[in-house]
Amino acid sequence: MLKDKVIIVTGGGGGIGEGIAHVCIDNGAKVVIGERNDESGQRVAKELGENALAIACDVSNDEDLDRLIEFTVASFGRIDGVVNNAGVNFSKPFMDTSSDDWQDVISVDLRAVFFLTQKTCAQMVRQSPAGGSIVNISSVHSVAALPGAGPYDAAKAGVVGMSKSIAIEMAADNIRVNCVSPGLVNTQIWQDLLAAAPDMDECMAFWNSNIPMNRVIETREIGEAVCFLLSDKSSAMTGSNMMVDAGMTSQLVSREPFESSSIEGS
Ligand SMILES: NC(=O)c1ccc[n+]([C@@H]2O[C@H](COP(=O)([O-])OP(=O)(O)OC[C@H]3O[C@@H](n4cnc5c(N)ncnc54)[C@H](O)[C@@H]3O)[C@@H](O)[C@H]2O)c1
Repeated sequence: MLKDKVIIVTGGGGGIGEGIAHVCIDNGAKVVIGERNDESGQRVAKELGENALAIACDVSNDEDLDRLIEFTVASFGRIDGVVNNAGVNFSKPFMDTSSDDWQDVISVDLRAVFFLTQKTCAQMVRQSPAGGSIVNISSVHSVAALPGAGPYDAAKAGVVGMSKSIAIEMAADNIRVNCVSPGLVNTQIWQDLLAAAPDMDECMAFWNSNIPMNRVIETREIGEAVCFLLSDKSSAMTGSNMMVDAGMTSQLVSREPFESSSIEGS
């Protein structure tokens, strides 16, 4: 699906980004990982083989973003796709959230997505043939919220909003911009959450009750959706927010642990 396409994956040194990078390579892409933790970025690139490279990059730093683009073009000649995946999680009560907290989350989860997309579009417009596909990793938090997640929710909803705006602005230049919004994915955060629970089975049952498919999502399953949006198979899609959430945001409330004898009204 991505034969010879050149794809940047930010935060590809672990978690969902690593899964996305693997699926891109499996589908014939050349991949550049832009990762703040250079050691993990280099480790993943090595695992992916000769069609993958990694460069140290903090996406909240504009000069690092320029270097990421220059490195990719110097290495592989062009950019066909960018996956804005790097992100930081956040949980703190609203009344305790400081302006530094806000800045830390927004600079990575929102601002960096905007400016890497802008810098990439400049390259995509000037290359020949022009064009490309941008995939921004948002979250189920783009449509629903958890307490204590204000800056994260603002960033993830903001990513969807600005992706629509950029999508319509860049459509004439053959650049598509879409979002993927994952539900609960099997990454370190999920493993830590399970490990911290007094009863792991009870914890898993609680979370599963909030997920119609009754399970967490594997990182490669997010990668498959991203790969589709990067590829020409999604050629008529731009401005969309694809929920890859195992049904989480389609459900009004968790399944009730008891059954009504009748649901017919009188
Ligand atoms: N894990 C989930 O269940 C879940 C659900 C919905 C959305 N998401 C989103 O998916 C994306 C990836 O999350 P994850 O769970 O894989 O997280 P993770 O913490 O496992 O991995 C994130 C990667 O991004 C890198 N990174 C962090 N800040 C960076 C920066 N400033 N510059 C460059 N790299 C940076 C980290 O070093 C790490 O390798 C995030 O945008 C997150 O909000 C995750």
